[in-house]
Amino acid sequence: MNYKFSLTYELDAPIEIAVAAYLDSEHYIFLHKDYTDKYEVLHHEPHSRVITVRQTWKLFGVSMGQVYTCEYVPPAQFKNYHVKPSPWYIPSIHHLISVSTDLKYLPNPEKNTTISILDVEVEMPFWIYPFRYLIQKAIKKLKVEKDAEDMDMIYRREKLFGRGNNAGYLMEHQFMLYKDDYVKYYGSLK
Ligand SMILES: [Fe+2]
Repeated sequence: MNYKFSLTYELDAPIEIAVAAYLDSEHYIFLHKDYTDKYEVLHHEPHSRVITVRQTWKLFGVSMGQVYTCEYVPPAQFKNYHVKPSPWYIPSIHHLISVSTDLKYLPNPEKNTTISILDVEVEMPFWIYPFRYLIQKAIKKLKVEKDAEDMDMIYRREKLFGRGNNAGYLMEHQFMLYKDDYVKYYGSLK
């Protein structure tokens, strides 16, 4: 059975900063270590915007490994799908449910902020269906807490470099997923 829900809210950051924070995958396991302590790119087809990632997430207080497909749709859309438990022999919520997410960032020019729209689709067997709101609550909590950590990082950088200053992300030594695309869309704003 399928259950869909959306989470929409505003992030107090210009879109070029919100996108940079998402694509800066190196910060995940440091800043978000309470939720995810492993992030490993397993596969990347050259010239594609699709990667296969192994990552751990803490859901319902339990750390669960998963392998999933992650797709970037420039300039500001991020999809995750084909989530599989990893390793397969460790019991995981992903043996029971399959979660796909589609995150879109939209600029809010009036306030120089970002509207974040997360569409979530959960596939589950009928006997899990009565617990769908619990699953929704757990996913929402994870997302809200992770975004709060990102906002702390964004405010710290804002204090040092000024609001909307993404020059640090554009520097050559700074790693970022799909950096060529990022530079193309957000590289000449200042
Ligand atoms: Fe983050």
